[in-house]
Amino acid sequence: MAHVREAPPGRTGVARDPSVPFYDLRPSHEGLGEAILADVEELLATNAWTNGPQVAAFEEAFAAWVGARACAGVASGLDALRLALLAAGLQHGDEVVVPANTFVATLEAVTQAGGVPVVADVSAEDANLDPDAAAAACGPRTRFLLPVHLYGGMADLVRLEHVARRHAVELIEDACQAHGATRDERRAGTVGRAAAFSFYPAKNLGAFGDAGAVTTRDPVLAAEVRVLREHGQRAKYRHEREGYTARLDTIQAAVLLRKLPYLDEWTRQRREAAHMYSERLADVGDLRLPAPPAGSDPAWHLYVVRTGDPAALARTLAERGIGTGRHYPEPVHLAAAYRRLGHRPGSFPVAERMAGQVVSLPLFPGITEEQIERVAGAIEEHFARG
Ligand SMILES: Cc1ncc(COP(=O)(O)O)c(C=O)c1O
Repeated sequence: MAHVREAPPGRTGVARDPSVPFYDLRPSHEGLGEAILADVEELLATNAWTNGPQVAAFEEAFAAWVGARACAGVASGLDALRLALLAAGLQHGDEVVVPANTFVATLEAVTQAGGVPVVADVSAEDANLDPDAAAAACGPRTRFLLPVHLYGGMADLVRLEHVARRHAVELIEDACQAHGATRDERRAGTVGRAAAFSFYPAKNLGAFGDAGAVTTRDPVLAAEVRVLREHGQRAKYRHEREGYTARLDTIQAAVLLRKLPYLDEWTRQRREAAHMYSERLADVGDLRLPAPPAGSDPAWHLYVVRTGDPAALARTLAERGIGTGRHYPEPVHLAAAYRRLGHRPGSFPVAERMAGQVVSLPLFPGITEEQIERVAGAIEEHFARG
């Protein structure tokens, strides 16, 4: 079997460690330090900390990588979502349909842009916004559908586009976990009116801090995001509309430019690691493995298994020095922050059932076959013990 860690930058200098962290950034950063430090030195000379040349260079390179016509860099994935909604024309009180299984930022973006999130259940098949539930959630005030490509697997945008067309609403993609994912021969970030990406350090493409981007086929929308990210100004001190401090820092753009050439290889390594888990863990205990629908090629931001007692499995793995995550232990509609939406346990049964079952296994570029084997062996032991 091919080795998942053989591509540049290598991990020859990383010490051997019997534990398996949930996430390890060191293998992907190896070999990049010198070039990045040189970029920082150059910035010390030019002081172009904001709006430096790397920002536009990264925007162009990332748009090309995604296959979108335009890209506007911003300060986080949340900013990308919020500014995409505003630039696409969201008005105060407009409703936006969001999935019940997502990271909280999807809802934060809607409310902070002045919209009203309308939660809909997810499909048991792909854990993403269920097109039938999304259709049922559409009403006269609905303006956008905001599907999330959770865990790196794309939502069913073919069916969601039909729903959007039928209800005369627009699609915005939350692609924060889905750099490079494809489904039905289309890439995440190219289908909706706009899409949001996060470059939080542990994302498939990560900055050295917070960063994000909006991709779109509409250069006018990208230009509007650039206005919003910088205090609503197109020309200095001419404030067309109320904006934000939400720029992509030059230093983060420089880091992202250095890392982008490796993203295809890192995605390949994620796919290979996911494939190994799926082969190794078939028919183990009550585990339900991720099963991408036909035509879907996820970017595998996370490898999320489901089991009846996720806490017990996580405990066993922790005892063996193996890190895990839960994405997410509480569905957003039941979060205290969104009590005002008025949902109760039972409102969205598929998302609630998943929240009670999920465990995310270690997965990162540079994870070794040996590490995957250690995780799989510990999981087998856990179920053999009963
Ligand atoms: C699905 C999803 N949406 C939005 C975000 C927000 O991104 P950020 O943390 O960069 O603001 C994240 C990442 O944290 C995410 O996973």
